[in-house]
Amino acid sequence: MKFLQAAALTGIWLSSTLVHAAPRDILAAFSSPSNNWDAGTTITLPDNATVFQTATVRWNSNDAPGFAIAITPATEEDAAKAVTIAKNFNFPFLATGGRHSSSITLATIRDGLAIDLSALNSVRINTTAPSVTVGGGTRFRQVVDPLYNAGFYLPIGSCPCPGMVGATIGGGIGRYQGLDGLIIDNLLSVRIVTADGRLITASKDSNADLFWAVRGAGANFGVIVSATYRIHPLSRINNGQILSGDFVIPAASNGSYYDILASLQGTIPVELGTISIAIWNETLSEATILVNWVWLGNEQQGRRFFSRLNALNPIQTNIYTVPWNRLTAAAAFGLGTAICEPVRYNGYGLNFRNLSSSTYQEVFGIMDEFWRRYPDGRTSSVEIEIFAPHAVRRVANDATAYPWRDTLGYTLYSFAWATAETERVGERYGIRVRDAFARTAGFNGPAVYVSYAHGDETLEQMYGSNTRRLLQLKQKWDPQNRFRFFNNIARR
Ligand SMILES: Cc1cc2nc3c(=O)[nH]c(=O)nc-3n(C[C@H](O)[C@H](O)[C@H](O)COP(=O)(O)OP(=O)(O)OC[C@H]3O[C@@H](n4cnc5c(N)ncnc54)[C@H](O)[C@@H]3O)c2cc1C
Ligand SMILES: *[C@@H]1O[C@H](CO)[C@@H](O)[C@H](O)[C@H]1NC(C)=O
Ligand SMILES: *[C@@H]1O[C@H](CO)[C@@H](O)[C@H](O)[C@H]1NC(C)=O
Ligand SMILES: *[C@@H]1O[C@H](CO)[C@@H](O)[C@H](O)[C@H]1NC(C)=O
Ligand SMILES: *[C@@H]1O[C@H](CO)[C@@H](O)[C@H](O)[C@H]1NC(C)=O
Ligand SMILES: *[C@@H]1O[C@H](CO)[C@@H](O)[C@H](O)[C@H]1NC(C)=O
Repeated sequence: MKFLQAAALTGIWLSSTLVHAAPRDILAAFSSPSNNWDAGTTITLPDNATVFQTATVRWNSNDAPGFAIAITPATEEDAAKAVTIAKNFNFPFLATGGRHSSSITLATIRDGLAIDLSALNSVRINTTAPSVTVGGGTRFRQVVDPLYNAGFYLPIGSCPCPGMVGATIGGGIGRYQGLDGLIIDNLLSVRIVTADGRLITASKDSNADLFWAVRGAGANFGVIVSATYRIHPLSRINNGQILSGDFVIPAASNGSYYDILASLQGTIPVELGTISIAIWNETLSEATILVNWVWLGNEQQGRRFFSRLNALNPIQTNIYTVPWNRLTAAAAFGLGTAICEPVRYNGYGLNFRNLSSSTYQEVFGIMDEFWRRYPDGRTSSVEIEIFAPHAVRRVANDATAYPWRDTLGYTLYSFAWATAETERVGERYGIRVRDAFARTAGFNGPAVYVSYAHGDETLEQMYGSNTRRLLQLKQKWDPQNRFRFFNNIARR
């Protein structure tokens, strides 16, 4: 164990930073030799700025959780011990994976314990099963090379940097929805530390009710130290050579582009995943749409399908094949990589099952107005993701906690600001954009993917008809509501 004796035991930090007795108690409990921490486990206080920063720094610095102490367990058992100690002291704690969530609800933990899972990042492939088991802190980018080199793939998200497990437990959306469903549809089992500190397995055969809850509401139910997924041979996706098309669509073509998107209703091919981001182009001083289309199938068929975008006079076009393990980094002219740089953002998301070109044009116009009026908000964007829904819909809405299987797409308004005024205005635009999308989204009331939720939504807006069962299971598995700092489901 690398423990910071000096910092911990000089009363200076304790008296200046902490007003409550509990952090001091938990510190003493953590430093007890009886814990037998693994040699690789690190416990850090904020005054060791570099190490503490490494253990807690987030992709998005806005509404960040507040921590007074961090543990980076090197083993699954140490993660379980950390939960047990925190529980015994009734000390607030939050597990962190890729630290990519932007939910404003994370700011509800103050002076808490960070259980940083980043050292639990092993990737073990079983080619017989075939399956892969990843540590609870593994990021997408750490999974792709070992799998690709072994001849396999599995559904992942659209960018390299989020936590694989963190993204999974909200549902896990992405380009594979047509062929393989959500990421949770490929999840076989998890090893999870529950609220009482036990390390148990949840799967269809073992603690099946907990496994149901984990697949959509996992952050409210435990700390997953490892997760096992079904994997698929690369032969299923054009031998792992993926056709990807990147385009910059000019403002003048926004209506025609959104018409093409809307025409995907009921016709979207099983191979297709589309991401369209309305962004401000500084060079042109104009609103544009940055587009990435991915085709998980025969290259010639894909190229024929993509050719419908030629008529829109894209400012830029790049259509290429890329090995599966390089796709997330390459997509959208490398935005997949660039987006992983730290930001200060606020996000508003919404699901839709009805596609509406007029709504997308309206939102494009709202954003154009925002960008023109508030130059310091020009790195704000509105993303529309439309993925083939075929395999997602083969699973019933009540088969997992994720309830929105008839979703065809997701939107995410992300806004950035430099001045307080633009921050205030940006919030208003966020709500305006979300309301505009909701009007034609086709759900009875707003529906939102929990991982894209802002944090102000109701439980029903996140979990729909699965809400009741979820609350019953919460009562059973976490009656004290210890896992409450991410879109808290037991807040009422
Ligand atoms: C650039 C970017 C791209 C994204 N792309 C996609 C995408 O393609 N598809 C998609 O579905 N989502 C995507 N997301 C959303 C992402 O899934 C969520 O933000 C998710 O919460 C990130 O998980 P994390 O582990 O990185 O985050 P963290 O902030 O570390 O964790 C978020 C929440 O999950 C909990 N958590 C994390 N790991 C564990 C674990 N092992 N056990 C228990 N709880 C855990 C944490 O306690 C916390 O409450 C993206 C987000 C960003 C910023
Ligand atoms: C910070 O923590 C690291 C890792 O535990 C340790 O090696 C280092 O000595 C600490 N630095 C200070 C100033 O305490
Ligand atoms: C791999 O999976 C097979 C089939 O499920 C199983 O029998 C075997 O024990 C697994 N191997 C390892 C190393 O876990
Ligand atoms: C988007 O397209 C519509 C329809 O062609 C057009 O009326 C509108 O001005 C365009 N929006 C912007 C910001 O250029
Ligand atoms: C903005 O427009 C310029 C000029 O046409 C183009 O070269 C550039 O790629 C665009 N930038 C983005 C981020 O789309
Ligand atoms: C779906 O979108 C179309 C096109 O904009 C719109 O006319 C229709 O009212 C929408 N349906 C619902 C249920 O919102």
